[in-house]
Amino acid sequence: MKPGAMIIGTGSALPSRVLTNRDLEEMVDTSDEWIVQRTGIKERRIVGPGESNSKLAVEAAKKALEEARVSPEELDLIIVGTLTPDYLMPSVAVLVQKELGAVRAGAFDLSATCSGFLYGLSVADQYVRVAPERKILVIGSEVLSTKVNWEDRTTCVLFGDGAGAVVVTGSRDDRGVLSTHLHADGSLWHLLTLKGCGSLYPPCGKELPREEYFIRMQGREVFKNAVRAMETVALEALESNGVQPEDLALVIPHQANRRIIEALRERLGLPPEKVFVNLHKYGNTSAASIPIALDEAVREKRLSPGDLVLMVAFGGGFTWASALIRW
Ligand code: UT7
Repeated sequence: MKPGAMIIGTGSALPSRVLTNRDLEEMVDTSDEWIVQRTGIKERRIVGPGESNSKLAVEAAKKALEEARVSPEELDLIIVGTLTPDYLMPSVAVLVQKELGAVRAGAFDLSATCSGFLYGLSVADQYVRVAPERKILVIGSEVLSTKVNWEDRTTCVLFGDGAGAVVVTGSRDDRGVLSTHLHADGSLWHLLTLKGCGSLYPPCGKELPREEYFIRMQGREVFKNAVRAMETVALEALESNGVQPEDLALVIPHQANRRIIEALRERLGLPPEKVFVNLHKYGNTSAASIPIALDEAVREKRLSPGDLVLMVAFGGGFTWASALIRW
């Protein structure tokens, strides 16, 4: 397929406070050994005073714009994938729009959990296929630490905060997004939830038990579905473009669990150096995980022009997605 959106700048932002597995040992009945063995996570970043979802998003966006040499006034659209906005109204996207001074841009948040960034990239890709001159900021930004039950060891060890951003415009050559594939299965929504504070259960705290105001997960079931869905949507991306796994220069998977990433790597038959992993430093940052990883891969010079990059995500809903890019 002809490429659509070309990524011309990336950026990321992480809170300065580090929460290690050792710190968690003081908070719940867990151990560094269990967390590392079962997830691969060693530490995660947590917001402190003065830090917020929109502030992280703005910081990541400024870096991406600078690298892209695009001014905020040139932006046509800002899309933020997030499940932890500062407020239910206004969106993170309009706070970013205001802070950047992106006076011409439309702005909206997109709710697709851990697949939010790839869903957002897919929307941007469609926009620039119609009008290649458009410039769009796609951000994944989360402050999951505010939605984690710090008394629940089965979830609180997994998540972290952070933001990643890309600037895209229409492809001028053979480089850019070759395809995106989006999927969802709402029949399994109950396996990964954050029920409280929506309109069904407003935040007076009476209608629901306390734990329902935080992320709840049936981890083992989510794990099985994540492995299956990520493999399927990765192969779908390759097959629809006539690409073999060995043609890939780098896979950037959602960073939820090292064992899920390993299963994907083995299914694709790739060596470890072709699969980007940074979850040991940040844990699962949901919609932010892929753009943070992409930004780090760029800064580590893991990508060269013409390389094929495959991104794969899975999250609550369930939602899952892939994007194949010629870098
Ligand atoms: O981003 C959205 C997608 N999310 C994911 O992809 C996450 C998918 N799920 C997972 O990554 C894994 O299922 C977990 C890391 C959440 C859990 O790993 P697991 O190997 O599936 O463990 P488990 O839930 O089957 O629990 C095994 C044991 C249990 O004890 P018993 O019942 O065997 O006595 C748990 O109570 O480990 C216990 N356990 C813990 N022990 C120490 C659960 N959490 C902890 C903990 N520390 N933090």
